[in-house]
Amino acid sequence: MIFSERASFAGGLNALAIARKNLAASGRNYFDLSMSNPTQVGLTFPQDVLAEALKEGARHGYAPDPHGLEVSRRAIAAHFAGKGVALSPERLFLCASTSEAYSYLFKLLCDPGDAVLVPQPGYPLFDNLAKLECVQAVGYELDYEHPLGWSIDFERLCARLAGDQEGKIKAIVLINPNNPTGSYLDETELEELVALCKEYSLAIIADQVFFDFSIDSSIDPSAPPVNLYGFDQVLTFVLDGFSKRLCLPQVKLGWIYVSGPQEEVDASSRRLEIIADAFLSAGTPIMASAGALLACENEIQTATKARMERVLQIYKQELEGPLSPHRVLRCEGGWTALVQSPAFDDEEVLAIGLLEEKGLYAHPGFFFDMRGGVFFALSLIIEPEDAHRAARRYFEFFDSYCRNA
Ligand SMILES: Cc1ncc(COP(=O)(O)O)c(C=O)c1O
Repeated sequence: MIFSERASFAGGLNALAIARKNLAASGRNYFDLSMSNPTQVGLTFPQDVLAEALKEGARHGYAPDPHGLEVSRRAIAAHFAGKGVALSPERLFLCASTSEAYSYLFKLLCDPGDAVLVPQPGYPLFDNLAKLECVQAVGYELDYEHPLGWSIDFERLCARLAGDQEGKIKAIVLINPNNPTGSYLDETELEELVALCKEYSLAIIADQVFFDFSIDSSIDPSAPPVNLYGFDQVLTFVLDGFSKRLCLPQVKLGWIYVSGPQEEVDASSRRLEIIADAFLSAGTPIMASAGALLACENEIQTATKARMERVLQIYKQELEGPLSPHRVLRCEGGWTALVQSPAFDDEEVLAIGLLEEKGLYAHPGFFFDMRGGVFFALSLIIEPEDAHRAARRYFEFFDSYCRNA
């Protein structure tokens, strides 16, 4: 059988994955410092509310609509109105997850061989999502300056767009805040991006799954995050969903919100209706329970944000200091902190050493296309006691290199 090119992925496990598998097979435990599953770290959505909402939702009859159940879209719009964000239910498209929402948008905007710009460093998921739609994910670089933080390298972005002679690039993906850099888009960057979108006819795909998870103590009040819901200067698609917003990855409800110049919104919506109608992927009981589940948003987000602040503080306490070789990069939001550590060896060798010697599994920077040093991405949603223990072991691991150096 000759399989499709889009489904041809480099086979085999990388050295770190093999080391992890071997460790597990030998029966030794390790701690997963990359953990991003809220259901495994005690950030549990109120189970009684979930059970009751799904029971109620199960009574709802089947009423297929490419936008998703109207009652559900109204509930989402009402919920956002309560937070001061005006949404029109008819501009929402519900689906099973944000990942699926990307696939709808790549179908809408790209022909095979076209490209979308994705942030670098960035979450590796987008490469596969794009490839599965025969789309290329082309990186645009974010630069880091300590302790100021991350910003888009506009010089290189402009050069990349100017070099796209055939106009293959159709959209720019903004992860707001980005995973794993934890950086939000600010007003100045947005202004520059809008000019580029207009010049090169690009749509904005704004992934805001982590938007509400800001580390408030890190936000510069003079450059607050910009929220792209309803942004109307260029065609904009905001992606969001319950997986992060409500710490409910198992519930599977995501959405796209379309905004921009009216004509483009209408043309996009007509096409998205056909794409979404081919799948109708969001389950009725889940859509119908949206309002009841969103009522718990404040409770689950407050607990998660408090956890994130605490864990970030622990990493700083344990890993930073005047004589420490580590630094915790500025993080404004999201569930991950990046730590830069001394380059005693290759990142992968260090990652395997951490696992085998200290029983710590952490994602090295190269997983996210990070360059220029040794970085590890550490979860901000693990239990604080675990963060303490893990950060100490992480420190000890590098300390033993320092002593032998
Ligand atoms: C930035 C970002 N967007 C989207 C997703 C996937 O979200 P969903 O579970 O809704 O597909 C992830 C997963 O971690 C993510 O990091």
